[in-house]
Amino acid sequence: MRRIHLTKKRPDMFGALSVIAVFFMVLVVCSGTFSYAEEYYFGKPYLTWQGNPSTTMTITCHTAEKPDEIAVVYNKQSEPEDYHYCTDGKTWQIPGLQDGRYINSVELTGLTPGENYIFRIRDGSQWSGEYKFRTMPDDDTPLRFAIGGDTLATNIFKELVIQAAAEDPHFLVVGGDLAYANGDFDQIDQWNKWLLRWHENAITSDGRLIPLVMAIGNHETNKLDGDHRTRAPFYFGFFPQGGKTFWSLQLGANLGMIILDSNHLVPHAEQAAWLEEQLKSFEAFPFRVAVYHVPLYPSHRDYEGGGSVAGREHWLPLFDAYKLSVAFEHHDHTFKRTKRLRNNEVNPSGTLYVGDGNAGVKPRVPKEGLWYMEKASRDSHLWMVDVSSDAMHLRAINRSGVVFDEAIITADSGS
Ligand SMILES: [Fe+2]
Repeated sequence: MRRIHLTKKRPDMFGALSVIAVFFMVLVVCSGTFSYAEEYYFGKPYLTWQGNPSTTMTITCHTAEKPDEIAVVYNKQSEPEDYHYCTDGKTWQIPGLQDGRYINSVELTGLTPGENYIFRIRDGSQWSGEYKFRTMPDDDTPLRFAIGGDTLATNIFKELVIQAAAEDPHFLVVGGDLAYANGDFDQIDQWNKWLLRWHENAITSDGRLIPLVMAIGNHETNKLDGDHRTRAPFYFGFFPQGGKTFWSLQLGANLGMIILDSNHLVPHAEQAAWLEEQLKSFEAFPFRVAVYHVPLYPSHRDYEGGGSVAGREHWLPLFDAYKLSVAFEHHDHTFKRTKRLRNNEVNPSGTLYVGDGNAGVKPRVPKEGLWYMEKASRDSHLWMVDVSSDAMHLRAINRSGVVFDEAIITADSGS
């Protein structure tokens, strides 16, 4: 995916236009070939990161028709000028997707860390409504994120997102299996429903859009022969995240997050050398976490399942060697919190494994009697995670926003 950097300063150009512009919000005319709910979310943005989350933001929206021009005009919320800056974007389609939608994306760069911004999307002379986002801090300012997996576009997912958004997280992570469209163009309505849920609810109490970090799961892929984009057309086509299924994010001064592909497109073993590099680069951070779909320590599925065994063979020694703080696992559709583990044994200073992908799908029953499990249940949930220089505080919230489990990892407990 080509990245566009066309930021240019246009002093006051848009200030004079802004009064008029409210009458020209992006108007999307859906053709008869569209279905379900596109008209409600076409033209509305969602946020991902392709670069440094403290200084960049990628803004993407779908439209039924090809825009004459796609750009984002923006400003710091605190600055008096209206839309002082403008960055041009790019437009593409997913080859073979029959509904003909256009995906429009703009990456803002050179942003100020920990800053609130306001922006509008400009399509020629038409402007969208005003939206807000916040960049990540780059210092040890405490941060909060939400994380879960296996969502589907259910009311459970909607309610969990509402509860998480009310706590004003900096971002929300989904550890794979979002819309269950299986990389299948005929199941595009699964994404229409999911994106509508996301657009309506992933908004903080002060009106900021919540950036999405998305790991790949089995339901993002199809069984076709072909390259990665053929195998996971929506994962790559809808969500600009740098064009890979494994990457890392530095989040403030205290947290390094590594996103992994549990053999949906890239085998575990092929990521091991890269994983070690990332863990090494985050060694000085108080906390290092990993996010991936198939659990190393499953709560419902078989401990000897192929994905779990491969994870323990190729990733676990590295997690242990570099003292991974927390592994966020999914795929099993339960709630789980393991004991602290190292060298595949209980160890009070080892890694905590939490999950297990139950943020919207029908819950499953966890197995009983697992040697590594501290607590497991059928509760739908998201984990809310607060990170400071001293501690990671994890709270599991249910559909009502009630905390029903929690754990604290201190910065020195992994040494
Ligand atoms: Fe899954």
